[in-house]
Amino acid sequence: MKAWIGTIGEYVDEEVTIEGWLWNVRSSGKIIFLQLRDGTGFIQGVVVKSEVDPAVFAACQNLTQESSLKVVGKVRREERSPSGYELTVYAVEPIHITSDYPITPKEHGVDFLMDHRHLWIRSPRQRAILKIRAEIIRAMRSYLDGNGFTQVDPPILTPSSCEGTTNLFHTKYFDEDAYLTQSGQLYMEAAAIALGKVYSFGPTFRAEKSKTRRHLIEFWMIEPEMAFCTHQENMDVQEAFVKHIVSHMLDNCELELTTIERDLAPLQEVLAGPFPRISYDEAIERLQKMGHDLKWGEDFGAPHETDLTNQFSRPLFVEKFPAAIKAFYMQPDPNRPDVILGADLLAPEGYGEIIGGSERIHDLALLQKRFAEHGLGREYEWYLDLRRYGSVRHSGFGIGLERTIAWICGLDHVRETIPFPRLLNRIYP
Ligand code: 4AD
Ligand code: MG
Repeated sequence: MKAWIGTIGEYVDEEVTIEGWLWNVRSSGKIIFLQLRDGTGFIQGVVVKSEVDPAVFAACQNLTQESSLKVVGKVRREERSPSGYELTVYAVEPIHITSDYPITPKEHGVDFLMDHRHLWIRSPRQRAILKIRAEIIRAMRSYLDGNGFTQVDPPILTPSSCEGTTNLFHTKYFDEDAYLTQSGQLYMEAAAIALGKVYSFGPTFRAEKSKTRRHLIEFWMIEPEMAFCTHQENMDVQEAFVKHIVSHMLDNCELELTTIERDLAPLQEVLAGPFPRISYDEAIERLQKMGHDLKWGEDFGAPHETDLTNQFSRPLFVEKFPAAIKAFYMQPDPNRPDVILGADLLAPEGYGEIIGGSERIHDLALLQKRFAEHGLGREYEWYLDLRRYGSVRHSGFGIGLERTIAWICGLDHVRETIPFPRLLNRIYP
């Protein structure tokens, strides 16, 4: 019977056929250990010379790493194996014999592995990360779908920018100029007025010349937007959302998190209490006390975020940034118009910003003033209509999928969180 390794426990003491690949092989002369994978999991197949047809044993000796094959054997419980099972192999049918597979069990440099990303994703660690990615997406959707949000898909080709013009990818749209989207937010605001609570989930593009462990050129973002929602309520939703993701991952991905040797204690700690909330003012004071040469009005860099988050064990909201360093659409604090009613959520363990969010300006005159200050023109006219017809207080946020994965996996670079990363100087493979 055809079986998948992921559900092999259903076939204990039965004879099964597995179709897959050999990712490693060891031999002791009389026994060959086939490390098999079929995409759904990994299992060890044991071929004992004295118990199989000599032709089968000979065929096994010719198998090479990443050859594809069909294996027939009996499933046994094996407590010492990570999967909990082992296969006693009776027959092996090679499908395609591989020669000179480039990624061997020895150490390879990151550039080499990145050049072979199309093959590297077969390895147990990379596979586990991609499984975790899929499960984080499921967790994000299940929270939003279960809490009255409707998915709305904003366009990817846009006539204007959302987060400022410095990092746009330009393209021609027939005779007009167009840009790849930096964020669907402005469209999601229109959708929130139409549908109440909405979210988008899609690719986002930033032509940033940043070569850091947190920056991708193409990344995926989830952008919830809520009508009749204040800055405080926005943070409450973000906290519940992030806790849901972490708790879902601890419940559903222990095998993959263990495969990549993630320490689970800091993730459990995320669920243990409320997320601290501090103002930008307080953050600046804390950073200055730590010896950073940073003045009020300046934006944080990665080292600032890292040092700040290291003072806390749970994700940290930093709210009320100076209006001058944030996007044009953010609602000013009525008691103090030089700061905005918005927050960044910084992940613990030094990871830094995973969410940017705010209340949006709902007053037409104030938004028109911002337009004038930022030189925004006719291509945004429709956005002003949202303030002309039934304007309400509304808020939303954007969570970067890859930064969230990097944090939950404990990775030191976002490049491993996405199947085929687009980085400064890399668009291959
Ligand atoms: O802070 P950002 O730029 O906010 C926005 O785009 C808002 N319009 C979102 C909203 O309110 N709807 O980006 C949001 C998140 C960041 O916190 C970060 O997690 C991620 O997107 N992000 C990146 N991830 C990887 N590579 C990059 N270059 C990223 N830039 C932002
Ligand atoms: Mg941001």
